[in-house]
Amino acid sequence: MSQLSTRVRAGFEERFQREPFGVWRAPGRVNLIGEHTDYNDGFVFPFAIDRSTVVALAPREDRIIQITTAHSEDVVRIALDDVSPDAVSGWSAYPLGVVWALGKFGADLSAVSGFDAHIDSDVPIGAGLSSSAAIECAVAVALTEVWKLGLDRETLARVGQLAENKAVGAPTGIMDQSASLLGRKDAAVFLDCRSLDAEVIPLGFEPAGLVLLVINTHVSHSHATGGYADRRRSCERGAREMGVSSLRELDVDDLARAAVVLDAETLKRVRHVITENQRVLDTVRLLRLEGPEAIGDLLTASHASMRDDFEISVPELDVAVDSALSAGAVGARMTGGGFGGAAIALVRTAELQEVSDAVLAAFASRGFEQPELFTVTAADGASRAD
Ligand code: GLA
Repeated sequence: MSQLSTRVRAGFEERFQREPFGVWRAPGRVNLIGEHTDYNDGFVFPFAIDRSTVVALAPREDRIIQITTAHSEDVVRIALDDVSPDAVSGWSAYPLGVVWALGKFGADLSAVSGFDAHIDSDVPIGAGLSSSAAIECAVAVALTEVWKLGLDRETLARVGQLAENKAVGAPTGIMDQSASLLGRKDAAVFLDCRSLDAEVIPLGFEPAGLVLLVINTHVSHSHATGGYADRRRSCERGAREMGVSSLRELDVDDLARAAVVLDAETLKRVRHVITENQRVLDTVRLLRLEGPEAIGDLLTASHASMRDDFEISVPELDVAVDSALSAGAVGARMTGGGFGGAAIALVRTAELQEVSDAVLAAFASRGFEQPELFTVTAADGASRAD
């Protein structure tokens, strides 16, 4: 049993004065490439990481839900029949949103018991590593087992997304939950967000002498407000004006026509999505043909596109990427929704110290808050932990 499982079990016992029925875990994710393509029906290539959210849970005799977390003293208590997007707020919107969303995907909530649950996590919050999808997926797999719902992982990903969209209010796509549920050790998930066909592709970082460094800038972001929704609207406008149902229908050959049809800003947003889809396909192809060192330039090109065309980077992310590259990183980019959060750098293991030192020095010289640096490996998707 991992340290985190032991901790969440102890937290449950302390708060509820009984033993949990079980412990379930769901990982955060790093998106290797394919940013803001998921809600455009495009391609993404994320992987589940070795940092997880865990939930210790036990059913109750009545129809009450009580949820606690290691991050707060609150006990959120609500009757199953009262759970709805309007009735939830704060951190509990994630787990309770999942309860509600399971009902929308066929669970008969009138026939199930209430439960007590305690949540703990070692996924940094607000770092762009999908701490929110990790909560949703941990709760979704726990309740699927305890309530004997028999829902498959593709459906659970949609459950998590619906919870996030309606209960949390963030208009996000399907990538994060898919990575958290479908991830595999040492591999990334190549997902077609239109068909939801997923293929697990080995990364081979370790045998190639590479490691993935995460640089958490500590610039916090929220996808329930502002920029994320605005970019999504631009993409929808671009698709409408180009006469297609989603930007997935377009490819680089359509860019010349887009330059005529679209206003300057929408063109930039659309160009990011079109070229990013192509970069995901190229990354998967190169990874298979030549191995991971060959994908570095595509990662870096993805960052440039997000900085210049999609305009979702911030100075801290640019400094993280530039300083890592100058110190020898094979490739680097911001990961996740943008406006803050983390950057990733693909680094030769032998150069990890040098790159890390260079990033810290660059942040210090700009007067930015010191970033948090750590490496991640690709891990298995959500499962029962204990
Ligand atoms: C956030 C969202 C995802 C995806 C990314 C950007 O992580 O939750 O659905 O849109 O941003 O690629």
